Amino acid sequence: MKIAIGADHGGYSLKEIVVPYIQSLGHEIIDLGCDCNVSVDYPDYAMPVCDHVVKGEADRGILICGTGIGMSIAANKVAGIRCALVHDLFSAQATREHNDTNVLAMGERVIGPGVAQEIIRIWLETPFSNSERHVGRLNKVKAIEDKYAHASKTE
Ligand code: RB5
Repeated sequence: MKIAIGADHGGYSLKEIVVPYIQSLGHEIIDLGCDCNVSVDYPDYAMPVCDHVVKGEADRGILICGTGIGMSIAANKVAGIRCALVHDLFSAQATREHNDTNVLAMGERVIGPGVAQEIIRIWLETPFSNSERHVGRLNKVKAIEDKYAHASKTE
């Protein structure tokens, strides 16, 4: 798969560790920064990663900041993005099976690189269940997205 990845200064070091790991799993990386640990703003890095995913230029996105929280909040503002903030292996699998997440967020200040790499491997390898109940719930999530996209256009 093509994986777009982005981090702020709080996630830069972990990004540098996981990029070669993801490549070693056979995936292609689109690294959208940042390029050092100088302070930057996480939405500036969440947006291009999500843009690549919604436009089909990347199959999945991975976002890393200090906590993963800012990145996940920003990513979930983008129509078509389903971003999960994950710090454990169970959630990495469940969010693919149940939520069909297309972006993964993690916090460098929360977990170590070993857990982060295992989360990434599981998240990349686990397919969506496609079960009727999960598809139905995702359709309801999409309906929320559509309703509020329309509301903001008519204001
Ligand atoms: C940066 O200090 C930090 O706020 C950021 O990396 C992230 O944790 C925000 O949610």
